[in-house]
Amino acid sequence: MVNRLPLEDVVLVRLRPTEEERNHVCGLAKRLLAAIAKSGKAEGMVVGSVARNTWVRGDRDLDIFMLFDPALSREALEAEGLALARSIAESFTDRFHEKYAEHPYINATIDNVDVDLVPCYSVDSAERIQSAVDRTPFHTRYISGRINGLIDDVLLLKQFAKAGGIYGSDQMTEGFSGYLCELLVLYYGGFSPLIQAAESWRPGFVIDIEKHAAKKFEEPLVVIDPVDPKRNVAAAVSLNRMAGFVELARGYSENPAYEFFLHPMERCILKKELAERIARRRTFVFAVTFATPPYIPEVVVPQLKRSVSAVRELLERNGFAVNHASYDMQAETCMILLELLVGNLPSIRRHLGPPLWNPLNADKFREKHLAEHLSGPFIENGRYEMEVPREYQTARSLLASDALLSARLGKHVRLSMEQGWTLHEGPECWQEEFAPFIAEFFDRCSPLTRILRENKKG
Ligand code: UTP
Ligand code: MN
Repeated sequence: MVNRLPLEDVVLVRLRPTEEERNHVCGLAKRLLAAIAKSGKAEGMVVGSVARNTWVRGDRDLDIFMLFDPALSREALEAEGLALARSIAESFTDRFHEKYAEHPYINATIDNVDVDLVPCYSVDSAERIQSAVDRTPFHTRYISGRINGLIDDVLLLKQFAKAGGIYGSDQMTEGFSGYLCELLVLYYGGFSPLIQAAESWRPGFVIDIEKHAAKKFEEPLVVIDPVDPKRNVAAAVSLNRMAGFVELARGYSENPAYEFFLHPMERCILKKELAERIARRRTFVFAVTFATPPYIPEVVVPQLKRSVSAVRELLERNGFAVNHASYDMQAETCMILLELLVGNLPSIRRHLGPPLWNPLNADKFREKHLAEHLSGPFIENGRYEMEVPREYQTARSLLASDALLSARLGKHVRLSMEQGWTLHEGPECWQEEFAPFIAEFFDRCSPLTRILRENKKG
């Protein structure tokens, strides 16, 4: 067993679930399993971190799978699975709703625990997996059988990743899932050896515990799923998140401090502070807001990312240099926030024509522009060039125009924006529900930078 730092022992006291919490969550799990068994329709199974004993105190998230006969058609599974999940939830609480991942399930709040009731197929070997959720019971069996003695290490890693803001495999976080944390700890035999190794990770790094990879993966970090040779468990980890983890590992090795396990404080900014910030930076700040498309985040978030780069390109193409662009998604409203280095431009712009060595096109170009009163066509570097009126002299007029809809927006983002969007400029971009996002936008820093800064303050 690797030696643990005294600091880590102190942290662990806070991370291990209390006896009371364990009894509370496991007691509820037992009652839910009994209800599923009583229905006679499916076999219940606790999966996720509760089944593996790897949940961090206070997480209170219980994943219950309902395993159905694989002979059932996909439609029947969805219908019967959902009906059973609903009737079980109903008998425990009135706080539940349907959610949708690869197929529908029920999310309920029971006795202060966030419970997922997920129907899936009961397949007897991982090769016969029919949908992504069918893999989960295999993950649980794999980890449960091996994680003994390393549970504290998993807790440390999960909290380390949470504190660094890189825990979670959702589209917004692009970070490390719970299962990935478990596999990393297993592979390296603990938290400390993992930290040591991660210091010298580079993009393209591959971990293949079962040595059974069935294809080549392109993602920056590759951890082959021990139960499925065709899947990369780290597929969600973006290049930047991987770099952030490496940075944190180096920082922690050099100076292990309590701050590496502390949840980041949610930042905030007042409207007045935003006004001062912008005035000092002398940049041009715009916010485009529109109704959040009515789809799950896994669908909407990639479209938002794409839309941000599309709007950025549109601005750059029109001469407005962009310093920083980002997005945020709230329940009702989404925001694309832009900080430009240039907000106003002269009334002319350069327009490139054909080379004189292409007589046909050159003649056409000259004739077309003969009647105009601006400078040109003139010859520069052997080709026609001229000055033409600029379509958008202010970033504001461009962002308020329908040209925004001609950008390569994500489909549902476009549909929403076709219903209308609001444009705000400068301090007027401030809205209470977006204040943490705006604060973050103007206070960007890497995970380690933030921790070192907080360490200095504290
Ligand atoms: P959770 O997101 O609840 O993760 O997914 P977890 O392991 O229980 O970790 P915490 O402690 O709650 O944060 C439950 C299970 O679903 C599968 C994994 O097997 C995971 O353990 N899963 C989840 C995936 O295979 N991929 C994912 O991206 C998410
Ligand atoms: Mn979970």
